[in-house]
Amino acid sequence: MSDLPDGIQRREFDGQTRLATRGDPVYGEPTDGGWRCWDAGRSKLGAMLEGGMGIDLSSGEGVLYLGAASGTTVSHVADFAGPTYAVEFAPRPMADLLDVAEARNNLFPLLKDARKPDTYSHVVESDLDLLVQDVATRGQARVAVDNARFLGDNGQLLLAIKARSEDVTADPETVFDSVCAELTEAYKITDRQRLDPSHDDHLGVVARKR
Ligand SMILES: C[S@@+](CC[C@H](N)C(=O)[O-])C[C@H]1O[C@@H](n2cnc3c(N)ncnc32)[C@H](O)[C@@H]1O
Repeated sequence: MSDLPDGIQRREFDGQTRLATRGDPVYGEPTDGGWRCWDAGRSKLGAMLEGGMGIDLSSGEGVLYLGAASGTTVSHVADFAGPTYAVEFAPRPMADLLDVAEARNNLFPLLKDARKPDTYSHVVESDLDLLVQDVATRGQARVAVDNARFLGDNGQLLLAIKARSEDVTADPETVFDSVCAELTEAYKITDRQRLDPSHDDHLGVVARKR
């Protein structure tokens, strides 16, 4: 299991030990004294942490999150991290994300296309500790490579790859190998793990910027 920063705890919910962060509830998750359960079934990053992947959150100060959707996972990230830039290109989930950000003064929603980092490079810092990506669209490796510029030295990528977004007919392992090979252009992969059964045909990847 990864070492957890102070802002993430293991707590009991309904008789089970689960990850939790401290903040306003967002998606109907159980709470306990200000702590909110981080549902790994609804969050690929939550599943990566629960799965014991080699994630280093000791310097999770500044974060760029690509594919923020309605804020399920990025809300947990903003609960324990510093400035958290949340990129989402679909207007509907962005409306929900704006509500989530109301209660979090370190969460900055950006209605932008993650394939076009030039359009937000004037807003986002360039020495971030973490790049979290869950865009579930074709070209997931290219998005991660093109956004590596926002990571500082030794910055870390936490990526969820959805096989079917790249090719619905191909064997998922073949897709994962191909995406990971493209990632090496900008990253050194330190861990990879399937996220089944909580997220079918998804691979979690942890990598350091080269
Ligand atoms: C699987 S959902 C993300 C779920 C979210 N990460 C969570 O755990 O709460 C993928 C999201 O990525 C967004 N997305 C896909 N391609 C994108 C792009 N090029 N730029 C920005 N957002 C994108 C989609 O609109 C969708 O909301």
